[in-house]
Amino acid sequence: MNSRVETGSLDCTLPEARKFPPSWQTSANAHVKNLWQYENLYQRSVEDSDVFWLEQAACLDWIQFPTKSCIYNWNTSQRDIRHTWFEDGLINVSINCLDRHLLTHRRDQIAIIWQGDSEEEVRTFTFKELHLEVCRLANALKSKGIQKGDRVCIYLPMIPEAAIAMLACARIGAIHTVVFGGFSAESLTHRIQDSGAKILITANVGLRGGKKLPLKEIVDTAVIGVPSIETIVVVKRTDDPCPMGKRDCWYHDITTAQPDYCTPETMKAEDPLFILHTSGSTGKPKGVVHTQAGYLLHASLSHKFIFDVHNDDVYWCTADIGWITGHSYVVYGPLANGCATIIFEGTPTFPDPGRYWQVIEKFKVTTFYTAPTAIRAAIAKGDFYPEQYDLSSLRLLGSVGEPINPEVWLWYRDVIGQGKCPVMDTWWQTETGGILISPLPGSHTLKPGSATRPFFGTDPVVLRQDGSECDTKEGGSLCIRKPWPGMMRTLWNDHERFINTYFTTFPNHYFSGDGCCIDEEGDYWLLGRMDDIANVSGHRIGTAEVESALVSYPSVAEAAVVPISDPIKGERLYAYVILKEDAEPSDNLKVLLAKHVRKAIGGIAVPDQIQFAEGLPKTRSGKIMRRILRKIADKKVEDLGDISTLADPSIIAKLLQN
Ligand code: WT7
Repeated sequence: MNSRVETGSLDCTLPEARKFPPSWQTSANAHVKNLWQYENLYQRSVEDSDVFWLEQAACLDWIQFPTKSCIYNWNTSQRDIRHTWFEDGLINVSINCLDRHLLTHRRDQIAIIWQGDSEEEVRTFTFKELHLEVCRLANALKSKGIQKGDRVCIYLPMIPEAAIAMLACARIGAIHTVVFGGFSAESLTHRIQDSGAKILITANVGLRGGKKLPLKEIVDTAVIGVPSIETIVVVKRTDDPCPMGKRDCWYHDITTAQPDYCTPETMKAEDPLFILHTSGSTGKPKGVVHTQAGYLLHASLSHKFIFDVHNDDVYWCTADIGWITGHSYVVYGPLANGCATIIFEGTPTFPDPGRYWQVIEKFKVTTFYTAPTAIRAAIAKGDFYPEQYDLSSLRLLGSVGEPINPEVWLWYRDVIGQGKCPVMDTWWQTETGGILISPLPGSHTLKPGSATRPFFGTDPVVLRQDGSECDTKEGGSLCIRKPWPGMMRTLWNDHERFINTYFTTFPNHYFSGDGCCIDEEGDYWLLGRMDDIANVSGHRIGTAEVESALVSYPSVAEAAVVPISDPIKGERLYAYVILKEDAEPSDNLKVLLAKHVRKAIGGIAVPDQIQFAEGLPKTRSGKIMRRILRKIADKKVEDLGDISTLADPSIIAKLLQN
């Protein structure tokens, strides 16, 4: 299923589809109760889109209700790509996630349940309490000189302060840029520089799986020679000491004396809410820009309909706040819907591989949203662990990050969902802001391995190389024909790159980079990435980035990194490294190279295997033939395909010898 191609149409052999229609109980309680209702809403959302979306916009609290819905122009040849949603509306996102709930029964209901790395550490916040914390930090940020439009970098572990910091930024109109706590100092530096952040919020240490990560030390390295950072705010996660310099201050010191209320800033619907960096197939990570109202509407509406949110739900999305899933479906979507959301600091395997299931039992989780890689890892540990726990509170399951294999889907439904929970396979991207293709639990017949149908407002099309539309069951490139509310607006400071990356492959269309095929019933099957992006444990890693990291090592002349399939991680990285004349290959050098990549990008980008090579297979024009490298790495050498365009065919035999 996970076919990766450079050119031509995709291999698209769909598995024999087993079907799971919604149970009558699920449908009876659902917001959307049958397919007819879905189709009706869906059609209005794309055909009568202005009316539909202004109607939906009424589920948010506005400072000034918009009169306009979407205004856009997608014209690649004129290099004019822009779209706005609710342009003349005024709003504040934190009011929507907090203040408005204080006027209802939700005021004293749980907003955030935090489960620390160790079992005893739990903190909960009602909406009232969360509001207070957000206001205090918002005031503290203002006292440090942060104003509307300033960038705030958040480099925190999975602790409540991460969500509080995001909401505090939203309250005062600052633009947050969250950097995943597993990224290295160098990755952090680049993201700070790209966004021009003035303040950075971190913790003395991060705690995961019983191990400590010296976050503040990493930050100190990262900000050397980065003048834009004026203040570093440090959360005291543990009593461990950490270096504190002149521009550093403790989170608790600057927040405690602050007033309990902070007046929310009036924001234009199209003011940026956050920047989030993501990997591309070339160059440095891209700063994806999301704005206020359209993003929030998409995140909350999709969360409500796809996870079928009800008042007594305990919802848990395991994604880190450093990824878009953490933004849309740990923080903004659930809180806007007044839904209790769990923030989990730990790992699935500490203290043992039953941890997720133990947390589900402990908090009586109703809705669980995780990634296929985590499910595969759980399968590998056996049914023993989930069987130890009472999972009967679960009502609905979700999956995101990569294609989910049908067998994995079935295990998830049967063992974790005890055969009664529908599985929502949700397809989307950092760029899309929210889910674009997914079933709705009450209306859609599920097929393991298919994300089924487009969500409201999404107008997808699957295209051939030449831009013509694919036939049924013919694989091609997944594109979107017009903007949806949560769509990215631009790349930070680089609108040219935005147009080039997403709008030139197929003019006037948003190109997702994913392969897809639609079956005879109109259900969508995602086929994996079509470009040079690896999906390792659900994380996008640009192979080019890893190559640059390797080449920056003194003894490396050239490197090619390819993804190969992995039973647990989905994909893993395999690196071919060509050394300079005077360097000797050795196992020790492999260790040093791994360390080097860890330092340059972070642990998630370290190749699993490194092979030293004398040369790489290249075309006569010098283009590396990655298709061949993938097959050699994957040991699928019987069929290397057409190698007639190779400049030096003898390279192949040498590579195979190793
Ligand atoms: C890429 C986006 C969106 C949140 C997590 C990742 C892959 C994501 C699915 C799915 C098949 C999926 C795609 C996509 N992907 N969800 N349900 N089925 N593939 O965000 O880091 O921006 O990665 O993840 O290849 O393009 P991201």
